[in-house]
Amino acid sequence: NQAAGSAAEKAQDHVNSNRLQDAIAALAAFGGRDDGGVARETLTAIDLEARRHLITSARALGCEVEIDDCANLFFRRPGTTDLPPVLTGSHADTQPVGGKLDGAYGVLAGLEVIAALNDAGIQTQRAIEVVAWTNEEGSRFGPGAMGSSAFVDPSRLPAYREVKDGDNITFGAAVDTALQAAADVKHRGLRQPIASCVELHIEQGPVLERAHAALGVVTGIQSVRWYRVECVGMAAHAGTTPMDERSDAMKAAVTLAQQLYAHAAAEAANNLRLTLGRWQVGPNSVNTIPGNVEFTIDVRCVDAAVLERFEQFLTQTVAAYQWRGKIGFECFFSRPPTIFPQDMLNLIEQACVRAGTLAGRGAPQHLTSGAFHDAMYLAEYCPTAMIFVPSKGGISHNAAEETAPEDLYLGVQALAYTVVELANR
Ligand code: GLV
Ligand code: MN
Ligand code: MN
Ligand code: MN
Repeated sequence: NQAAGSAAEKAQDHVNSNRLQDAIAALAAFGGRDDGGVARETLTAIDLEARRHLITSARALGCEVEIDDCANLFFRRPGTTDLPPVLTGSHADTQPVGGKLDGAYGVLAGLEVIAALNDAGIQTQRAIEVVAWTNEEGSRFGPGAMGSSAFVDPSRLPAYREVKDGDNITFGAAVDTALQAAADVKHRGLRQPIASCVELHIEQGPVLERAHAALGVVTGIQSVRWYRVECVGMAAHAGTTPMDERSDAMKAAVTLAQQLYAHAAAEAANNLRLTLGRWQVGPNSVNTIPGNVEFTIDVRCVDAAVLERFEQFLTQTVAAYQWRGKIGFECFFSRPPTIFPQDMLNLIEQACVRAGTLAGRGAPQHLTSGAFHDAMYLAEYCPTAMIFVPSKGGISHNAAEETAPEDLYLGVQALAYTVVELANR
């Protein structure tokens, strides 16, 4: 009966903003920095402490906790039936220096939904599971979103387990350590049945703020490719080697980089985004010509054809560079654009309209995600969608990342409504 309020409406109305803010602050203390940032790369000692904190918090809410072969954590509020659960959540790992919201917000929002359901005394037909995916960021072990990727396709896990971090620790060893640290947590397999999935996240870009919208209905996620480029020349003396007799790996890398930036500028109208984010120079000495330079490329676009053209350009440019050395490159992460199903978007629209209207903040904005998210992999597996809230100044992957408390609250309200509707279908 609408007048008395549906279960979804009651759940939305029981979301507690102060409790949410307290939970965000408590999790941010794990790896918290003086500048307000959070340094909690995946499966580090501090991340394991944060995971323990999440396990304790979820158990206090009455959740059953489970962990799978990729150390993904699931916090389950049982339903009245054995139907497959509705999944929500995000990731609790951060960039080397990230903010307190990227990922953490989605996990804590899921737990706040459970707290609201407890307060309201609402039972749902399906169980609701809140997930904290392992290694969404991909900064320590590349690529990103390994946990959700392995969840939907366990055949990907063996290759991920071989990936090493900068200290030569394998992802597999790090996962095993996390599993040992969670020895009291029930183990389960990957690829468990899921009815549907909703991920709530900060936008991490400027679209919602510029539109003065409190909430975003995410229609999809742009395509992404990551490459590793290696230029191998010859290390030699900086003072004695004539310029025309060098095989300078830095000169090759810088020339290639300039050509890639020029290509990105030519594709600006198509919104190609290019980032050359990680560089390694060998031997990295003031007075030795670099013999070896490695760098990474991150390219993104909503239009996969633009990324295809980028790859052709990269291939041709590398082949055309004349010097004594070698340039090699490999793609180590590639995702087509993700398009979320219309019926999920309709439900999220309805949830955002109710939350936004009650708060006098108007209608949600529709947008595509510039960042990738675990929802990108879940969309391969079950009906999936995302809700965004604004990011101040569009800033993320930075200690200054921030979202107004009211916007964070409205996001969880929209999530609560959506999850409860899905859990009663
Ligand atoms: C993950 O944070 C991404 O790069 O989108
Ligand atoms: Mn994130
Ligand atoms: Mn991130
Ligand atoms: Mn991300």
